[in-house]
Amino acid sequence: MLKLGVNIDHVATLREARYRGRQDGEPDPASAARQCEAAGAHGITAHLREDRRHIQDRDVWRLREVVQTRLNLEMANTPEMVGIALRLKPDIICLVPERREELTTEGGLDVVAGETALKETSRRMADAGIEVSLFIAPEPAQVEAAARTGAGFIELHTGAFAEGFANPAHRAAELARLSRASEQAHGLGLQVNAGHGLNYENLAALLPVPHLVELNIGHTIISRAITTGLETAVRQMLTLMAPYPG
Ligand code: PXP
Repeated sequence: MLKLGVNIDHVATLREARYRGRQDGEPDPASAARQCEAAGAHGITAHLREDRRHIQDRDVWRLREVVQTRLNLEMANTPEMVGIALRLKPDIICLVPERREELTTEGGLDVVAGETALKETSRRMADAGIEVSLFIAPEPAQVEAAARTGAGFIELHTGAFAEGFANPAHRAAELARLSRASEQAHGLGLQVNAGHGLNYENLAALLPVPHLVELNIGHTIISRAITTGLETAVRQMLTLMAPYPG
């Protein structure tokens, strides 16, 4: 069964829009996480960014207390974040590139260039019993380098697929790229997740990509939740994912 990890960053985005700098305020990411789980989500993802624009430190500790499925901490590979992860002990971390000026995570990690540092972080996480995923573009050299780091997972960046969705030729090319990368990763013993830009409209078109374990989806679910409620939004996404083979 294809699993759904719900990224709850934008619950915190809404709270910070009104309550930035305070220790309280609504909506509460931890309550949202519990509702996602009640609706059948298989995991909860939160990205603690260096600029703390949405998720705050107190959120990740609260999430660690309440999440009963799997907690995925998205983070940059920096000494600060590695220290937090080692203390927090999420079930898995997903290492992402981070730039202050970006709207959201814009590209994949350059694992080829950062291989030594990523190997070291993978080793430290493995010693602490934390799984590691690397967020990468579906490029052969990146997949190959990811397999050398010791990380157990990659998360394939579906941003280009989502961006090109309206153009049939672009969509087909991106699907082929994702499928080849997933085959390659699977052959190298990596588990394959995917995410970024997936939504209720483009999800079904992604399902031909083989070997997927989990999708990480945020913005579209939190957006829909404003009109349907979070549990309904999660259930509707799970229904779209249900036809995935295996
Ligand atoms: N996966 C990763 C690695 C991400 O950085 C993000 C965005 O925070 C997502 C998945 C979710 O993307 P979206 O909000 O577009 O669903």
